[in-house]
Amino acid sequence: MNWQSDIIKNLTWSDTIINKEAKQKVADKIADKVKDGDVLGVGSGSTVYMALFAIAKKIKAEQLNIKAIPTSIEISIACSNLGIPLTSMFENRPDWLFDGADEVDPNKSLIKGRGGALFKEKLLISSSPVNYIIVDDTKLVNKLGSNFPIPIEVFPGALLHVEEQLKELGADSLSLRPAKGKDGPVITENGNLLLDARFYEVADDLELKIKSITGVIESGLFIKYNVEILVA
Ligand code: A5P
Repeated sequence: MNWQSDIIKNLTWSDTIINKEAKQKVADKIADKVKDGDVLGVGSGSTVYMALFAIAKKIKAEQLNIKAIPTSIEISIACSNLGIPLTSMFENRPDWLFDGADEVDPNKSLIKGRGGALFKEKLLISSSPVNYIIVDDTKLVNKLGSNFPIPIEVFPGALLHVEEQLKELGADSLSLRPAKGKDGPVITENGNLLLDARFYEVADDLELKIKSITGVIESGLFIKYNVEILVA
C-alpha cells in the first residue's frame, strides 16, 4: 500500500539554492557515474539534492536498480520523493559516495556540516571506498576556515565542558548555532547541539584534537580523506 502524501509530492529545497548553474553541472557529472546495481552513499546539502534529481532521471531513462544510503532526513525524504530505494549501513556498504562541501583546500581537506549532517557524512565517507566531493568554484580556498566556521556536534550536557576545551585548543570564537523555524538552538538529527568554531590556524592535527574532547560527537573538519574533488 502506498501513502498519498502531499508533503512528499510538494517537496522543495528549504532555501534558495545559490550558484545553481554550476551545481547543476557537477550534479550531472555524478549522474553520469551511476551504474546498475550501485549502492550509493548520499551526502547532504543542496548540490547533493540536485544530483539526486539528475540520478533519478537517469534511473528512469535506463531502468537502473540502485540503492541509496542517506546521511540526513532531508535526503531520505528527497529519495522517497524521487522513488530512489533506501538502504542502511546494516544491510549494505556503499560502493561509492558523493557529497558536497563548504570549503576545499589545495590538499583536498574539507570543511563540511553547514547542513548539520556532519556525523553521518563522516561515517559514510570513512566506510566508502570511493568518494566524490561535488562543489562549485566558490568553495575552493587556500586556507580552511577562510569563509566558514568549523561545525562541531556536541552532546547537550557537555556543552560548557566542550566550550572550555575548545578555547584551550585555541578557538578564536565559538557560537551555538541558532535554529531557523524553531526557538532556541539547532538540534541535530542525533539530538545534539552544534557549535560553530573559528580557529585562526587549522593545523593537520586539529580534527583529532577536537574529536578527543569528551562530549564532541564529530566535527566538520575532514583533513586528508580519500576524496576526489569535482569542481564546476
Ligand atoms: C551538509 O551537512 C554539508 O556538509 C553540505 O555538504 C555542505 O554544506 C555543502 O552544501 P551545499 O551543497 O548546499 O553548498
